[in-house]
Amino acid sequence: MLGAYHPVVADNVARLRRISGLDEVSFHMSGTEAVMQAVRLARYHTRRSHVVRFCGAYHGWWGDVQPGVGNPMPADSTYTLKDMDNMSLRVLARRRDIACVLVNPLQALHPNAGAPGDSTLVDSSRHAHFDREEYAAWLRRLRDVCTERGIPLIFDEVFVGFRLAPGGAQEYFGVRADMVTYGKTLGGGLPVGVLCGKAALMKRFQQDRPADICFARGTFNSHPYVMGAMNEFLRRLERSPGIYGLYDNLDAIWNGRAAWLNQRLSDAGLPMQVRNLSTIWTVCYTRPSRYNWMLQFYLRAQGLSLSWVGTGRFIFSLNYTDADFEVVAERILAGAQAMEMDGWWWQGPQLTNRAIKRRITREMLRARLGRPPVSAAPPSPSEAPAVPRG
Ligand SMILES: Cc1ncc(COP(=O)(O)O)c(C=O)c1O
Repeated sequence: MLGAYHPVVADNVARLRRISGLDEVSFHMSGTEAVMQAVRLARYHTRRSHVVRFCGAYHGWWGDVQPGVGNPMPADSTYTLKDMDNMSLRVLARRRDIACVLVNPLQALHPNAGAPGDSTLVDSSRHAHFDREEYAAWLRRLRDVCTERGIPLIFDEVFVGFRLAPGGAQEYFGVRADMVTYGKTLGGGLPVGVLCGKAALMKRFQQDRPADICFARGTFNSHPYVMGAMNEFLRRLERSPGIYGLYDNLDAIWNGRAAWLNQRLSDAGLPMQVRNLSTIWTVCYTRPSRYNWMLQFYLRAQGLSLSWVGTGRFIFSLNYTDADFEVVAERILAGAQAMEMDGWWWQGPQLTNRAIKRRITREMLRARLGRPPVSAAPPSPSEAPAVPRG
């Protein structure tokens, strides 16, 4: 930054401290960086090496939190543990090299599974289910073991942020974290990542060894445009009764809407159901099919454009009225009906999720070996669409 900080930065800090219930705040340029800084500080203060994340959870694209596909390097200092599992608590209780535990509360909707992208919908075996009390109980147990072992517990709320409650996932599940990351909407439409944490963890130097420091930098950290837009967001969140009121009965409203749509889908005999964590919905397909990904194009034809992950997620604005929702729901139904009519969800006796996965593996192998694709061969009678396409 050139020059002094604008006073709006101090106001943002004060508001974020209130919201998070934590002592200190640092500003970064993306959610990925906020997570990076949280992990770096946890390593610095605990002098331990390994970060724990849970299976399927996304925490940005930094190497240490993104082991596996897409990362050219092995994430050697990361343990990926099973979510909502006693064995994971035992690992935390025993190992001495764990610097922090990262939790993405979005996983409450689909523990141990990644985002419902097109690649995970190549068949219909994916399930989702959200039980608020069950997940809160899991977080309490995690909290206890982290406290006992002196392991900083980090909630990565970059995704769920202010969707669930004004105080975020901490308030919604009733569990306090040692550090919390926020991002996305908090920047009021501009790029941002925020870390809030307990004072002892946020300190970037050792009191008795001032040269022993923990670096955090970024050319555009606390950028004035971002700070201004964030201030608008935070002021509205805290002061505007219209906005604050959106959280009243939020779950009851959205659970009711999901149940209503599910009823309509099953009444119409469509092989699709939704599961939700408040306004975050995921789509489950109830009949084996390898064409579920097509739904996004049928929905686009209805004027609905799905999020970047493809045919698996709807994320609604908190301020949807019943009338707004009905318009969207009718379009979802119309898109699904058109897809059914076109025969993409046909049923065949041999069409199981396992058979679909096997066939896709065979097709990939053939492509690898340079053989012509299986689809070049005429479909067997059991695989042909039962409904003629018009
Ligand atoms: C939980 C979570 N953490 C971190 C990130 C990374 O944020 P950004 O894309 O701003 O780097 C995301 C982005 O989707 C996220 O959902």
